[in-house]
Amino acid sequence: MNPYEKLLLQNKAWSKEKLELDHDYFNRLAHQQKPKFLWIGCSDSRVPANEITGTDPGEVFVHRNIANMVVHTDLNLLSVLQYAVEVLKVEHIIVCGHYGCGGIEAAISQKDFGLINKWLRNIKEVYKMYQKEVDAIENHTDKINKLVEFNVIEQCQDLIKTSIVQKAWKNRKGPEIHGWVYGLNNGLVTELVNIEANVENVNPIFRYSDDQF
Ligand code: CO
Repeated sequence: MNPYEKLLLQNKAWSKEKLELDHDYFNRLAHQQKPKFLWIGCSDSRVPANEITGTDPGEVFVHRNIANMVVHTDLNLLSVLQYAVEVLKVEHIIVCGHYGCGGIEAAISQKDFGLINKWLRNIKEVYKMYQKEVDAIENHTDKINKLVEFNVIEQCQDLIKTSIVQKAWKNRKGPEIHGWVYGLNNGLVTELVNIEANVENVNPIFRYSDDQF
């Protein structure tokens, strides 16, 4: 059988199984979604948000891109963020990186990847910020993994620089921001950073004055 056809068969089996356990399952999900979490993760096929957090459809609003970046000119990310924060009113935003990230490894290298260079450039800027700490590590894998961690921390910072997050913090004291890193080799998440909903946590350079909101 064509592997592609297998996906459709598996879909039928999954739907049937869900209905057998709960005949109202899809009716309920179709009615509304009220996820408490926004997940910003890597596109890597080995880091599926729902599976690794044991959550079901309807529980996590998901945005994924190469190396879980929060790029302030990315209309896709910003639209997802605004919808999640202002309409769904998520209580937590999770930025989840993962050790052994190919996007981070590519950004550390000096290879020319064509169009992707433009995306990797954002990661290179993070590398530059932490160059001393990263370059002090000799082992190539450890070096990548250290930049994976720094990158998650910086993407959390990039989230709180947005007026979307700052406005929500002022108006409803949420959401909290969490920086995680996932281990491909053991399936475990390590928490790197938690940022509470307080504008004092935003560097004043990036802080919008209260009367704006
Ligand atoms: Co990755």
